[in-house]
Amino acid sequence: MAVEVDVDRQAIQASVRELAQGRIAARAAEIDRTGEYPWDIVQLFRDQDVFAIAFPPEYGGLSGSALTLSLVVEEVAKVCATSALLLAVQALGGYPILIGGSEQQKRTYLPELAAGRKIAAYALTEPDAGSDAGAMRTRARRDGDGYLLDGTKMWITNGGVADLIVVFASTDPEARTRGVSAFLVDGDSPGLERREIHGKLGIRGSNTAELVFDHCRVPAERRLGAEGDGFKIAMAVLDRSRPQIGSQALGIGAGALEYALAYAKQRHQFGHAIAEFQGIQFMLADMGSQLEAARCLTHEACRAIDSGDPRTTELAAMAKLMASDAAMRVTTDAVQILGGYGYVNEFPVERMMRDAKITQIYEGTNQIQRLVIAKRLLG
Ligand code: CAA
Repeated sequence: MAVEVDVDRQAIQASVRELAQGRIAARAAEIDRTGEYPWDIVQLFRDQDVFAIAFPPEYGGLSGSALTLSLVVEEVAKVCATSALLLAVQALGGYPILIGGSEQQKRTYLPELAAGRKIAAYALTEPDAGSDAGAMRTRARRDGDGYLLDGTKMWITNGGVADLIVVFASTDPEARTRGVSAFLVDGDSPGLERREIHGKLGIRGSNTAELVFDHCRVPAERRLGAEGDGFKIAMAVLDRSRPQIGSQALGIGAGALEYALAYAKQRHQFGHAIAEFQGIQFMLADMGSQLEAARCLTHEACRAIDSGDPRTTELAAMAKLMASDAAMRVTTDAVQILGGYGYVNEFPVERMMRDAKITQIYEGTNQIQRLVIAKRLLG
């Protein structure tokens, strides 16, 4: 049985690799240059059932395994970090429903996300509540058979394009994190204004928005779980999704290493390929080792998610921390190996270096990951 599952996983990975190399790689530089949301890649993922990989078969998906999704996100990120983020965020927006939703909510919304008919977003962060997510000020006030949402969410990936947004809002501010509730909000709801944010350093084709709620009505049946369950749902979701950011980081780093290896073999200086010099060899060896170590940890975190291991929280934080730091170092070294050629956008490694940076910031900064890890280690 385990062998069969591995075979399926490898088959899924191989077919996504083919798609990434054959259809996405050629688009990556243009997506970065124009900063336009890649609807063609969204359509490709719909047509090829790639969004479905994140979701279990009982809800219209193909797998639901964190490890399988990790392999797929890495394959896509090797060629285009923005395209890989489409997959990771579709999962991020679906996990609150999987974790906190009723059977009815799961059956209604998850097949839509698995098919890519609806694009998802996860709205936790606010202008003044980033690392301190519990300090959120967005309010959900009971109003008849629903709630009225008021407040502002910030840096929301997919925020401007999402059909379905999971919004975390306080139903009881006195209770702080115990007063947070989660709601499923339609992207085109009256009372919701979406302001796209431009000028990002990397992942330029991804959509990032500020969401302003002004008496935005949400029916009560759109609440996930009970009032006050929202913060725990948000944290449990991040436990599942942080390793996918780790996977994105691994892919970015692996793409940069692959390019640097090929370059070092063909670039000649002092009468030799630069790959023959120990100074370059040691850099390449460190790059490969850092990525492999981070990959082992990321896969371990995914296995923990898939098996319900109680160490999931710390492993997920460790995976995101190590993989994103590795990606930043590896991409910076790839630029160094290419020298002047690494510094211009005719070659992909400068884009990879810019794309790597966000993996140290979103889904909790790496300083927050260290807090989470230390708290768990200290019990
Ligand atoms: N699973 C379930 N419950 C959890 C949990 C977890 N992993 N972690 C904490 N909780 C529970 C706690 O048990 C506690 O419950 P009780 O009230 O019953 O005791 C409650 O949640 C509050 O926990 P804390 O006291 O630890 O909360 P805190 O206010 O100290 O904050 C924090 C903890 C880890 C710093 C948290 O605020 C955090 O993770 N901050 C970072 C936020 C973040 O990652 N944002 C990313 C946004 S998403 C994004 O970036 C997406 C994108 O664009 C791609």
